[in-house]
Amino acid sequence: MKKVAVAILMVAVVCTSLFAQGGSEAAAAVVTNAEKPVVFFNRQPSDPVTGVIDMEVMNWNDKTYYVGFDAAGGGAVQGQLIVDFLASADPAVVDRNGDGVIGYVLCIGDVGHNDSKARTQGIREALGTWTGSTDPGVENTKEGSANVGGTTMPVVELDSRAMTGTDGTTWNANAATDAMGGWATRLGDQIDMVISNNDGMAMGCLQASNYPAGVPIFGYDANADAIEAIGAGTLTGTVSQNVDAQATATLQVIRNLLDGLTGDAVVTAGITEPDQYGNKISASVDYVPETKALLAQNTGVNSSNWTEYQAGARDTGIKQTDAPTKRVLLTIYNSGDNFLSSSYIPALQYYAPLLNIDLTIVQGDGQNESSCLDRFMNLNSYDAYAINMVRTNSGRDYLDRLQY
Ligand code: BGC
Repeated sequence: MKKVAVAILMVAVVCTSLFAQGGSEAAAAVVTNAEKPVVFFNRQPSDPVTGVIDMEVMNWNDKTYYVGFDAAGGGAVQGQLIVDFLASADPAVVDRNGDGVIGYVLCIGDVGHNDSKARTQGIREALGTWTGSTDPGVENTKEGSANVGGTTMPVVELDSRAMTGTDGTTWNANAATDAMGGWATRLGDQIDMVISNNDGMAMGCLQASNYPAGVPIFGYDANADAIEAIGAGTLTGTVSQNVDAQATATLQVIRNLLDGLTGDAVVTAGITEPDQYGNKISASVDYVPETKALLAQNTGVNSSNWTEYQAGARDTGIKQTDAPTKRVLLTIYNSGDNFLSSSYIPALQYYAPLLNIDLTIVQGDGQNESSCLDRFMNLNSYDAYAINMVRTNSGRDYLDRLQY
């Protein structure tokens, strides 16, 4: 009798510790970490040089997905935004020194990042300066041309920089402030436009004390401060990569996988059709089966439509669910990244409670993978993982930790 009581007690203790370890009791007891959902987001597992998607990482298990936005399409949208601006501009105003040439400078961001490459390509293609390279430097460009208010004018890229900070971080806004200061001094009124592959760097350029007032400037991301700057007339345009759709899709795929959905339902429930709780993302998100990627669409934002993108507008298609609570560990490559900290994380924090996802966010320093990896721990305690790597070819390092 006594032995039975001890045995029951032991089982109770073991169960309690399993429950304590795992967010989801059943999952912790039977599912190994290697079998749990893994969703990469914002930084697609890929070769930093060629941009080729790393399908070994993407095929880690049948619950591995990527959520981002249509990077190539976004580059084209950004290019078109600039082309449209020029088409309706007055050549006498845009061409500041009247030399008959439109000169622009370009903030690239992260030469090893797909999004950055796609934007550089989209801009250079639209302005005719594309030579097949996304690298910085005038030697990687050629003279292009554009319709400026009805007149075809030559376009030249005067200079471009990756914008790596002194600490090694990419997409660095301070580096953009410094570069802009140098450009304004060196190139003066040859600069007719400033183009940046994200809003953080564009806002950084505007911080330069000698920024040539009134020179058109374009960013990307539709961060709240950039949208306000468009309203105030200091920023000319930006592109929304629909952060709400991306943040929700990241959480929704995890929700679907943890709810046991399989096949197409994983990428359609709550995304292109209502899920079992009646939720559906309002914006369009496309699934690319070849790369297991869910991609939100981009839209150009300028003075004609900026009010639609003002902060606080959340997707009303997502409501509170009664889904069982699940625990998710999510990494952010750089706590200082403007887009992730001012747009993506607030969106995650808004939608996660609605989907009953208990989110633990850990943030890195943007330069050392270990700053994220060292916080990718207590893995048994989570039901799923969402990963934003420092380097796009580090996916394997995270997956290796899920082996055990
Ligand atoms: C955003 C950038 C951001 C980067 C971080 C890009 O998609 O547009 O603003 O810095 O992601 O990975």
